[in-house]
Amino acid sequence: MNMFESRMNELYALIEHHAELYYDKDAPEISDAEYDSLVRELNQLERDYPEYARKDFLTHKVGGSASELFAKVNHDVPMLSLDNVFDSQELAKFFARIDVTGPFVCEMKIDGLAVSLIYEDGIFIQGSTRGNGHVGEDVTENLMLVDSVPKKLINAPSGRIEVRGEVLMTLDRFNSINQKGAKQFANPRNAASGTLRQSAKNNHVIAERGLDIFLYYLVDAPTHGVKTQSDALIWMSEHGLPVQNAYRECENLYEVNEFISQWQNERYKLNYITDGVVIKLNDLTRWSAIGSTSHAPRWAVAYKYPPEEARTRLTDIKISVGRTGVLTPVAILEPVRLGGTQVQRAGLHNADEIERKDIRIGDYVRVRKAAEIIPEIVSADIASRTGNEAKFMMPSRCPACNSEIVRLPDEAAYRCPNRASCPAQLVEGLRYFASRQGMNIKGLGKKLCERLIASGKVKSLIDIYTLELSDWVELDKIADKTANNILNELELSKTRPFVNLITALGIPDAGKEVAALLVERFGSLDSLINADESELSSVDGIGPVIAKSVHEFFRNDENMKMMNRFREMGFSMGSEILIRNKKLAGKIFVFTGALSSMTRDEAGELVKSFGGKTSSNVSKKTSYVVAGENSGSKLTKAETLGIKIISESEFLEMINAQ
Ligand code: IVH
Repeated sequence: MNMFESRMNELYALIEHHAELYYDKDAPEISDAEYDSLVRELNQLERDYPEYARKDFLTHKVGGSASELFAKVNHDVPMLSLDNVFDSQELAKFFARIDVTGPFVCEMKIDGLAVSLIYEDGIFIQGSTRGNGHVGEDVTENLMLVDSVPKKLINAPSGRIEVRGEVLMTLDRFNSINQKGAKQFANPRNAASGTLRQSAKNNHVIAERGLDIFLYYLVDAPTHGVKTQSDALIWMSEHGLPVQNAYRECENLYEVNEFISQWQNERYKLNYITDGVVIKLNDLTRWSAIGSTSHAPRWAVAYKYPPEEARTRLTDIKISVGRTGVLTPVAILEPVRLGGTQVQRAGLHNADEIERKDIRIGDYVRVRKAAEIIPEIVSADIASRTGNEAKFMMPSRCPACNSEIVRLPDEAAYRCPNRASCPAQLVEGLRYFASRQGMNIKGLGKKLCERLIASGKVKSLIDIYTLELSDWVELDKIADKTANNILNELELSKTRPFVNLITALGIPDAGKEVAALLVERFGSLDSLINADESELSSVDGIGPVIAKSVHEFFRNDENMKMMNRFREMGFSMGSEILIRNKKLAGKIFVFTGALSSMTRDEAGELVKSFGGKTSSNVSKKTSYVVAGENSGSKLTKAETLGIKIISESEFLEMINAQ
């Protein structure tokens, strides 16, 4: 295999991996700009070496696939993606190929989740995601909960209308949600996608989180008497469908380029993320004749803005210690405006990279930020050095626990080996334990984790389950009610599936995908513990490194003590049915009104895990009616039948009582 073929194979694997993280898991690990640059490199290699190209690879199709969670919807007109261009020459070439010089419509490219909405005689009847472009997910119920999706059109057009657009989360909403609790979304796009693709059980969060929508495509516009894209935008808006204000009709490419430059900076004033401009041929009666490739139309293209860069001074390099002990240098910067926000820190990856880029403390540096991803240092401005800059030296001891740093021969990273008691590793381990993919303990954020570890009261993950109300109140300087909520959350976390516990343990190299493979293959903790390295590595997707790490984890005495405590406390260990203790056995609960610390579904789970039952109707058999806010008729019925009515906090006391 020559070097081009081997690089192409590498790119196929990398792109496949990152596309899955982005489209299907809503959890990207690299920035959009980095992803785009992988795709561009591959496209170029495919042009130069077509003999090694995979014709059916995903870059030749539309990204994503329809999840099993939702019913499938066929798109009569496929929901396509867009080709990208990165400068004005590529843009000119794109339209030269179809011999088009204008007029165009320029719109901002919204970084959200593409959806199709169908209206019948003006009534919203179906909404779906793009999926693979031909088959999407039916998210009608969920879109019903998005305020800005009109349920009824103004001046109801008769017959069937299909419009397409982008569901998004505004920056204001994103920031306020990301400030609360342990749950963090990588960026507003993932927040929007994660929120909209909720199961019915959880869809109450949709209304709470507040999504928005902008429509940009009226399907079969000519059949509605609409002949241009700009008229389509007006048509949609007149019927009550939200469209962006940030668009313009442009006579020619010169005006298009003006629009692109004008919005390069102005886009940061918008309350949503845009990563480029979509340029569409305005005369949409020509669209069908111009046609599409298998994945994108030829009558429209996306101009992607380059990641923004700024110059500032690097005043220090600090070391952050991660969950697995890896030491990462972080650049401390003189604050600079970048991508619409003030930037004061930037990633430096590792010591080798600092050396390779010759970045010194005191240097002027170029900082780059791609859409909503942590900024990074591009290069140092060597010409403006004064001679007072200092070379960075990796410390020989851990800044958090003073252990001697090690560097394994086959690793680029430096590590603090003190896994058991380095406070920095414990804090990160605890945050990971409490994260959404782990035990999903709301309210256990970074600050609280730091205080827990600093207090010395928490030395191992299990310790958070042994703290009492007074410990929490003291630690967090919070009211009893908030502390009670945390206790409650902790109780609830015991009901999480076994796979969450395996993820939450933070076994090195074993993230949630590996945890899922392990649970699928071994089923329960006991079989997992008994598996030897070769059995572990016989699982498809688990190699010798992961197998060794998992095997070692369960051979460690401290870890096994912790697992046994988890078992005693009633955590799910896989195969058994989870009933922690039966103190609610024989009791039937009815929840009514809104609870403040959990949803009714979560409360139901909690009751079941203590051996009790729930019902949606009040009857003579009901033991307790738990009355939340705005309880209605069920309360009256309970009173007539003489059923005991308790408040949410009385219910929580009942659960928490030993
Ligand atoms: S028009 C046939 N206009 O970007 C496709 N798309 O990366 C017509 N997008 O699939 C799409 N803003 O989900 C159009 N103003 C805009 C857009 C936009 C965002 C999305 C859309 C598309 C993706 C391609």
